[in-house]
Amino acid sequence: MLEIKHLYKRYGRFLALNDMNLHVEQGELFGFVGSNGAGKTTTMRICVGLLEATSGEVYIGGQDVLQSRKAMSERIGYVPDFFGVYNSFSALEYLEFFASAYGIYGDEAKNLCLDLLKLVKLSDKANADVNGLSRGMKQRMCLARALVHNPDILFLDEPASGLDPKARFELKEILKNLSSMGKTIVISSHILPELAEMCTSVGIIDRGHMVLKGTIDEIHRAAALSSPLLITVAEEGVDDTFAFLQEIPNVHKVTAQGNRLSVVYDGNREDETALLKQMVNRDLPVYSFNRQEGSLESLFMQIVGKNKKPSGKGGQR
Ligand SMILES: Nc1ncnc2c1ncn2[C@@H]1O[C@H](COP(=O)(O)OP(=O)(O)O)[C@@H](O)[C@H]1O
Ligand SMILES: [Mg+2]
Repeated sequence: MLEIKHLYKRYGRFLALNDMNLHVEQGELFGFVGSNGAGKTTTMRICVGLLEATSGEVYIGGQDVLQSRKAMSERIGYVPDFFGVYNSFSALEYLEFFASAYGIYGDEAKNLCLDLLKLVKLSDKANADVNGLSRGMKQRMCLARALVHNPDILFLDEPASGLDPKARFELKEILKNLSSMGKTIVISSHILPELAEMCTSVGIIDRGHMVLKGTIDEIHRAAALSSPLLITVAEEGVDDTFAFLQEIPNVHKVTAQGNRLSVVYDGNREDETALLKQMVNRDLPVYSFNRQEGSLESLFMQIVGKNKKPSGKGGQR
């Protein structure tokens, strides 16, 4: 549905997008995660045709967005990160105004807009002034607005930021509902766990480049593997175990506290089994051997480099 190929964006001398690549399937609820300044807004604005790319290609449903921006706008809905304040419109008038921009008028517009208000759970606010709505409600108004022309794909730039937990929950439910209606949705956030709760797949962007992309299961697995192995051995075996682990190629760092060893280990489940077997074969007195519970947050921090584990071998005691 959405295909981004080798996308670059320069602002003057600053390279904001550096070979950005992404593929999102039809019907996916895709989460775009990155710290502030990673390039999420830049990517979205290029995808929806509001910003010119320096180079690269973007396809939506096989059509080249950068070549035919105007034609594509009919298939794309966009909820920007900042939403403006408008003159005294009621919620219904506000939506009807946008419907008219797409050539939808009269009863057709009214019925459509009432349906949209229902979809975003604002039916009871149809006649209320939009300026008086809460932030969460305004956010949902913008979502309804982005749906007026029934787009195939919807881009939402940090829609949950600044919302209280209840408003976030409501937004999530609406997005899941839209997703089940078959819309492709791309949503950004700087909080990985928040997206993991609702998205079907997630991509992590760092300094204008996609550094990790996968289904939610894959991301959880990556999180599990990103945390250290915890190995407990009998007191008398600590030194031998320490020395042994230092020599394992996938081991990046070993720390010991008493008889508990924490091992930064780059391997999958099978590698773990093999490692444990080797330890047992060597008569190292292993009491317990397991991965620490992986957290999405720590995975994210590790990937975006703020909390980089030292690479290469090197012990620490
Ligand atoms: N109009 C602009 N001129 C110069 N630099 C910009 C402009 N817009 C964004 N940037 C820079 O590009 C980088 C990516 O910004 P942005 O796409 O807004 O990131 P995000 O949405 O992930 O926070 C940031 O370092 C930002 O300062
Ligand atoms: Mg942004």
